[in-house]
Amino acid sequence: MDVDIEKVLSQVGCSANKLDEKKEQTSKKIEYVTSYVAEWIRVGCMSSKLNTLNFVDGMSNAGIYRDGDLGTATLVYALFLDAAEAYPDMSFNLIFNEIDSLRVEIFKAICHDLFVSRYDKKEISNIKLYYSNNDINAFIEKLPNHDELLNRYGGLTLFFIDPYDARTVNGLLLRNYLDNRYCELFFNWFSSDHIRNPNDDAIKSCFSGIDIPAGYDAADYIAQYLSGSKKMYFSFPFRNRNNTELYQIIFITPNKKGLEKVKEALWNTFSGKEYHRNERTNYHQMSVFDLGEGQEIQKGSYGSTIQDLIIEEFIPRDYTYEEIELFVLRRSMLGANDVIKFVIKPLISQGVLMKNNRNGKRNYKKDSFRFVKVVGNG
Ligand SMILES: C[S@@+](CC[C@H](N)C(=O)[O-])C[C@H]1O[C@@H](n2cnc3c(N)ncnc32)[C@H](O)[C@@H]1O
Repeated sequence: MDVDIEKVLSQVGCSANKLDEKKEQTSKKIEYVTSYVAEWIRVGCMSSKLNTLNFVDGMSNAGIYRDGDLGTATLVYALFLDAAEAYPDMSFNLIFNEIDSLRVEIFKAICHDLFVSRYDKKEISNIKLYYSNNDINAFIEKLPNHDELLNRYGGLTLFFIDPYDARTVNGLLLRNYLDNRYCELFFNWFSSDHIRNPNDDAIKSCFSGIDIPAGYDAADYIAQYLSGSKKMYFSFPFRNRNNTELYQIIFITPNKKGLEKVKEALWNTFSGKEYHRNERTNYHQMSVFDLGEGQEIQKGSYGSTIQDLIIEEFIPRDYTYEEIELFVLRRSMLGANDVIKFVIKPLISQGVLMKNNRNGKRNYKKDSFRFVKVVGNG
């Protein structure tokens, strides 16, 4: 997608200094979120129950980086532009907020360019762009006033909140908003700030004074905190070249389908790796897991780990397929298509799960499974 960056900057009357340099991990973060959004749009447009898709970026940046590459929300706008013509009965709303007013202007100019290069002077009434130039917390506080747009029947809303640090976003406001509404969220939890200073009062006060015990996975705590009653979340770490964690992108959804799709986006973007790590050299190092055969080995290894967790955490009773699937989606890198092969069948062979065969021997998804605590399996 080519945007004339010089033209945009001169229209707005500012220099390239206003734009962020794109860091290595930023490209992967953008690729991951937009990969999910592309699938979210595809599934949303195919659904007969939906009529509106809303993407809300609470900290959108300028929509373009200094190297001329687009940011997440402008890429989503381009995806919306493509979908708007193909699905004229569907409405697409992109809502962005950014504290820096010049960045807001740049963002608007880019969207205008994208619109014109796609449609010229043609009227397309089912795509709308809304913007706001507020502090993120003021923005979240005002969101309930926009329920008519963001929480209407037949609508699906996806939020992206991507700060530079862990001390800016008021998690309580965000949690309260999410708790009462049917929507999804990508949130950038800046774990490196917490790791550097686990007792930082400014961070704690963003999350109701949360006390994360030493040695615990803070991202899991924060994801659990933000998800409130939704309880379906997954977080994915990004590390620097020295293997130190920078941040985790937390994904929260009210729907298991969301977890299934986010796994697809993760495998598409990171080839099944458990975390993204910036490369030490400039040339691309292909992981053995980029190869199809390697991915099977990787899945086998994720399967063994999640089998151990099941043995540790399940109690002797019947579990439905959905319960086991949700556990796997929540707690491992495995996706919906991996559950039978890499988790259920091996546990059956070990005598840990017994298939109840309620709908025949071959049907797994409509069945339940008895968990047996085998002596010696912990
Ligand atoms: C990491 S960037 C967002 C990148 C963007 N999500 C993307 O994928 O291209 C964070 C943005 O948040 C903005 N920002 C910082 N503090 C803010 C605040 N308190 N309220 C709203 N926006 C803020 C910054 O100006 C910056 O543009």
